[in-house]
Amino acid sequence: MRLMYVGHSAMYFEGEVKILIDPFITGNPWVKQKQYDFSPDYIFLSHGHGDHLGDAIDFAKRSGATIIAPYELATWCSWQDVLTHPMHIGGKYQFPFGWVKLVNAIHGSGLITKHEIHYMGHPCGFLWESEGKRFYYAGDTALTYDMKLLKDYSIDYAFLPIGGNFTMDVEDALKAAEMIRPKTVMPVHYNTFEVIEASPEEFVKKIKDRGMEGLYVKPGEEQEL
Ligand code: NI
Ligand code: MN
Repeated sequence: MRLMYVGHSAMYFEGEVKILIDPFITGNPWVKQKQYDFSPDYIFLSHGHGDHLGDAIDFAKRSGATIIAPYELATWCSWQDVLTHPMHIGGKYQFPFGWVKLVNAIHGSGLITKHEIHYMGHPCGFLWESEGKRFYYAGDTALTYDMKLLKDYSIDYAFLPIGGNFTMDVEDALKAAEMIRPKTVMPVHYNTFEVIEASPEEFVKKIKDRGMEGLYVKPGEEQEL
């Protein structure tokens, strides 16, 4: 399968199934003139913050994709007349392409409009299997001891935020990787805004020093997985 990394936490997996995650396109500083004509079958949403919910509703309407998200966020999406499959933390479900499990993330999830914060439930990370590979998308999260539980899943690819301020920084993401022990780690959620400056090169080097594969896909670039 092919991974297209938009930048920030937005990514698109194109294989037997097409999965779009946290599609922050409009207003994303990483997105220049490039048009993204993604046609996902499923859209995973980790939480309600604008830099993750992004253009999810537009993509879902255009492609008829099903949004998979924590119950409150999925319910709000269903009110925008798109297909949804609500789940919640700890829940696992077998989809036609493979299983998906929602796991804990330590973060917020409020959707913020002018002077109003709309409750969107608990944020999550995604664990899933497709085409015989296992993936962990951490979403926005602090380092949490719960990550120790993920080691048992023999994860092939882990996507971890490294930018700090709102999420783990490089130091904490390295500790997370040590707990999870995936085959390959790819850094996300860095250098989009001034307050989340981090070096993906330095992170990837340190991941390799710890005996894992470090995968640095530059925003706007693609990678075969
Ligand atoms: Ni967030
Ligand atoms: Mn974020």
